[in-house]
Amino acid sequence: MSLLELEDVKKIYGQGEIKVFALRGVDLEIEEGEFTTIFGPSGSGKTTLLNLIGALDKPTSGRVQLNGSSIGEMNKNQLALLRRQNIGFIFQSFNLIPVLTAYENVEFALKIAEKGENRKAKEKVENILSRVGLGDMLHRRPNQLSGGQNQRVAVARALVKEPKLVLADEPTANLDSEASKEVLEIMVRMNKELNTTFIFSTHDPMVMEYARRLLELKDGMICREERRE
Ligand SMILES: Nc1ncnc2c1ncn2[C@@H]1O[C@H](COP(=O)(O)OP(=O)(O)O)[C@@H](O)[C@H]1O
Ligand SMILES: [Mg+2]
Repeated sequence: MSLLELEDVKKIYGQGEIKVFALRGVDLEIEEGEFTTIFGPSGSGKTTLLNLIGALDKPTSGRVQLNGSSIGEMNKNQLALLRRQNIGFIFQSFNLIPVLTAYENVEFALKIAEKGENRKAKEKVENILSRVGLGDMLHRRPNQLSGGQNQRVAVARALVKEPKLVLADEPTANLDSEASKEVLEIMVRMNKELNTTFIFSTHDPMVMEYARRLLELKDGMICREERRE
């Protein structure tokens, strides 16, 4: 069984006269440990696809199966639990809590994921932050860190609960090319070291270079697929 299976997935926004066909029939299988890039221009359906994969939204038709469960058949609470236990999210605009330090941002995510006491929390938080190269910046707040450093905090936050899958929607869109490289290299390394499955989207050809499996999206359809070693 694959970690993720999509079968003829369609997503239509709106109703009546103003329907938007955001996904027009996507078939996709992703195995544990893959490092996949969804590449396509603005409006091609990248965010829609990641939202469905991340159980943040349901398809209009077709099937999305994550870790053996079909998300179309789950209720809100079941979806929330599925996300909490299996998925880490990384956003374009970092979405860190501004009043919390790097350490506290990551710790907060762990607390939400695990609900309750975790005697190993401190060790886990410090360990993941040093893995992304921020071991000596634990107590800085987002405004005391660069964009690239903030996105590395966000990578640590996504990874601290040891999810099977990390989804990143244009994670480098707000970073310069140097910081983008740093963040991508950390994601590549975390994928190798922890065998976490990564799926991230981009419209930037430089970022695409890092893909090991490339899916190109155009007008809501996968128009090209490539594997690189
Ligand atoms: N909530 C929404 N309501 C209506 N249309 C939407 C909504 N979200 C996205 N769309 C439309 O769906 C298409 C795909 O959008 P999106 O998935 O955001 O693409 P991308 O992330 O590649 O830019 C676009 O035409 C966009 O305008
Ligand atoms: Mg988008």
